[in-house]
Amino acid sequence: LVLVLDFGSQYTHLITRRIRGLHVTSVCLPAGTSLESIQALKPAVVILSGGPHSVHLDGAPTVPEGFFEYVKGKGIPVLGICYGLHLIVKLLGGEVKPAERQEYGRMQISAVEGSKLYGSLAGAVDNQTVWMSHGDEAVRLPEGFRVVATSVQGNIAAIENAEANIYALQYHPEVTHSEKGAETLRYFLLEVCGIVADWQLQNVLKEEIEKVSKMVGPDDHVICALSGGVDSAVAATLVHRAIGDRLHCVFVDNGLCRYKERERVMATFEKDLHLPVTCWDATEQFLGKLKGVVDPERKRKIIGAEFIAVFDEFSHKLEREIGKKPAFLVQGTLYPDVIESCPPPGSGKSHSHTIKSHHNVGGLPPDMQLKLVEPLKWLFKDEVREMGKLLGVPASFVSRHPFPGPGLAVRIMGDVTQGNALETIRLADEIFINSIKEAGLYDKIWQAFAVYLPVKTVGVQGDKRTHSHAVALRAITSEDGMTADWYHFDGKFLADVSSKICNTVRGINRVVYDITSKPPSTVEWE
Ligand code: XMP
Repeated sequence: LVLVLDFGSQYTHLITRRIRGLHVTSVCLPAGTSLESIQALKPAVVILSGGPHSVHLDGAPTVPEGFFEYVKGKGIPVLGICYGLHLIVKLLGGEVKPAERQEYGRMQISAVEGSKLYGSLAGAVDNQTVWMSHGDEAVRLPEGFRVVATSVQGNIAAIENAEANIYALQYHPEVTHSEKGAETLRYFLLEVCGIVADWQLQNVLKEEIEKVSKMVGPDDHVICALSGGVDSAVAATLVHRAIGDRLHCVFVDNGLCRYKERERVMATFEKDLHLPVTCWDATEQFLGKLKGVVDPERKRKIIGAEFIAVFDEFSHKLEREIGKKPAFLVQGTLYPDVIESCPPPGSGKSHSHTIKSHHNVGGLPPDMQLKLVEPLKWLFKDEVREMGKLLGVPASFVSRHPFPGPGLAVRIMGDVTQGNALETIRLADEIFINSIKEAGLYDKIWQAFAVYLPVKTVGVQGDKRTHSHAVALRAITSEDGMTADWYHFDGKFLADVSSKICNTVRGINRVVYDITSKPPSTVEWE
């Protein structure tokens, strides 16, 4: 197992991802993890990630006391990346200072022959472009270390102490801008450290099914809210494999679903996945509570609370039917959610502001006292999609774009019950998505959707003046939804979609395309 200690870099998840891509088991833990917890994992290699801090600052995150004695004693190789390099240098007796020539972005490096870190890769690594992002630099190395690569600016790019099995890179091998970065990680783990590449999703699936079978007692019942998204569907299918029909799923139609969403997802759940699922029609309940509500945060809060109320009702109904309280709740929590919910190391608290109240069925009433089953919490989204395929989830379902919990409520600006807003946006969205699919672009786009604008503009349709609503189209590319770029369609595609929407959807005489990235915008409009 390769343990990645996270010092807060925005690229840390990528390290774990790249390593898993090499079929090597890897987990990421926050930097504040205790030495006992690290030892319990018995890591074969430890990677110290990058991070936004400076090692000189008071309270800068560090490794637990005794860490270097432990790794040296066990002969465990260590690789520092960026901040990880600074930490190694400082803690082992060298010196780190604010860099005279800071390096951000692409940088050329040259590598020496005969290092253990690069070995037979040295020729290929020499003269490569790498991705740098650091304000500090090592100015004096600890005893036993030597420089094995240098940037064109003359800064240290890589160091090693082959005898102590400690290595460090000033640049980020995990980002694709570092030309030989993936190759360097592969060489380091498989050749230098001799790690066996035996991580297979198939085995993870088997293990998780076994874990769930053991965790849930033979008479216990489990509930799961299916959102229509990939994560909850895969989690439920996995749990169903483990415990059969003691799983009880519910799909809540809150009246904020997309065009024919309810029919489509219910068909997948029942016919393809054979999941025991109740379709709960709560349209009136949700729309009743949302009538006249305009403030985005209030809408989100109302929807979150209603979900919990429906879920509570569902579990009481179940209790009456099966004669006992359900004991467990399945959630499709993914690895990035787990990591992100850990406060950034060294801060003692979370830095993130509440931009939007995202929700899934998280804040359950305390009297439900359900234990969580989270079989996907070690996986990234692309791995969940793969696992879905292994479980027989149809390919068209696993590749679906993400859809927000509050549904179309965050895609209708203002009151969701205004006029025909829901009907209108469903049709416009369906036309847009079908056009994207027909053009073969669906899998290239992270998310695409239509937004209902509460403004009326003047148009001319069939020689008549119209005064109708506008819709906005949004399509983005992204790795994880945290940052995003708008998708560059060609003009003809947009023109075709625009005329299809204006010609087909009543009450729409104008279509605009959103050309904003995230930041400064968010993905959803509310
Ligand atoms: P934003 O709009 O915050 O969206 O930039 C980032 C990603 O999150 C999705 N999203 C949500 N997902 N519950 C969810 O499960 C929510 O409340 C929610 N709000 C936004 C959004 O669709 C995008 O993929």
